[in-house]
Amino acid sequence: MRRIFSGIQPTGNLTLGNYLGAIRNWVALQGEKSYECIFCVVDQHAITIPQDPAELKQATREVAASLIAAGIDPTDSILFNQSQVDEHMKLAWVLGCVARVGWLNRMTQFKDKAGKDRDNATTGLWWYPVLMAADILAYKGTHVPVGDDQKQHLELARDIAQAYNSMFGVEFFPLPEPQILGAATRVMSLRDGTKKMSKSDASDMSRINMTDDADTIANKIKKAKTDPEPLPSEAAGLAERAEARNLVTIYAALADRTVDEVLAEYGGQGFGKFKPALSELAVEVLGPIGAELQKLMADPAFIDSVLAKGGDRARALAKPIVEEVYDTVGFLRP
Ligand code: TYM
Repeated sequence: MRRIFSGIQPTGNLTLGNYLGAIRNWVALQGEKSYECIFCVVDQHAITIPQDPAELKQATREVAASLIAAGIDPTDSILFNQSQVDEHMKLAWVLGCVARVGWLNRMTQFKDKAGKDRDNATTGLWWYPVLMAADILAYKGTHVPVGDDQKQHLELARDIAQAYNSMFGVEFFPLPEPQILGAATRVMSLRDGTKKMSKSDASDMSRINMTDDADTIANKIKKAKTDPEPLPSEAAGLAERAEARNLVTIYAALADRTVDEVLAEYGGQGFGKFKPALSELAVEVLGPIGAELQKLMADPAFIDSVLAKGGDRARALAKPIVEEVYDTVGFLRP
């Protein structure tokens, strides 16, 4: 059976990168009906860097509400927050005793996030990919739709699954396949085309947030870094133009068209024409989601009840899988 698992951190505002690289694909996969879909707001991952407790609760609700507003149907897909289902941590311990120090030391995201002062990073930040593997494997997830930046973590999850299977001589865990879909698998910062668009970037002008209103979106796109050349008529002409490529890619993803199709329309034109068209499209796509999000956030008790129900459904799936792991590794069970 094909079972999708994916997760998203409740740290700050969701960005257009999260939307195009992940959420929109989740909604499309949910619509295909050929998968069972499990989507998780990973609050335990969020505390690998310090969080204000009240803000974390609020952000968890807001991310869940954003997913619903974007089209995740919690009566169809399972939607919950990670800390409600203890099986993730229970499995993570076992997987942490399978994964090797060297494997974790190679993770580029840890190196980026820890920066130069690595001794001061939390051990949780270093161990983060083990919990991520457990998130997926607690459900025997087979497919994982993510943006490009999660590729290395998923390769590690596959290595951990394989190492567990061979350590215990079982064919227990499937090797989860990354699904890196759509035109915008890596949306870049609006201020620097070589940096990923991120909710943690110090400059709010570097990203479009899913909650930004029309004026804010238009202003950010207007001020986005570009170059003085007109747009080329083919994708190859964007190779050395990171910022231009990023904006055209965003347009293509939002319009569900290829980069070449977009350039067939806008090739030869300057950013004075292209940027307003991009703003209009971004507002058209994000506006209704933002409005729905505001409505949902007016009723936090509803969001909490959705997450609690999702948690019950998730636990029912994960419990027997993790029970079997505990038995396999030799834990005496009553
Ligand atoms: P997170 O919260 O950083 O991002 C959530 C999803 O959004 C994608 N994404 C992007 N895609 C394209 N361009 C961007 N600029 C961009 N920024 C973010 C991410 O690739 C991701 O798919 N470790 C994960 C959360 C996680 C998880 C899991 C994912 C925890 N457990 C199990 C899959 C399966 C993370 O921090 O995503």
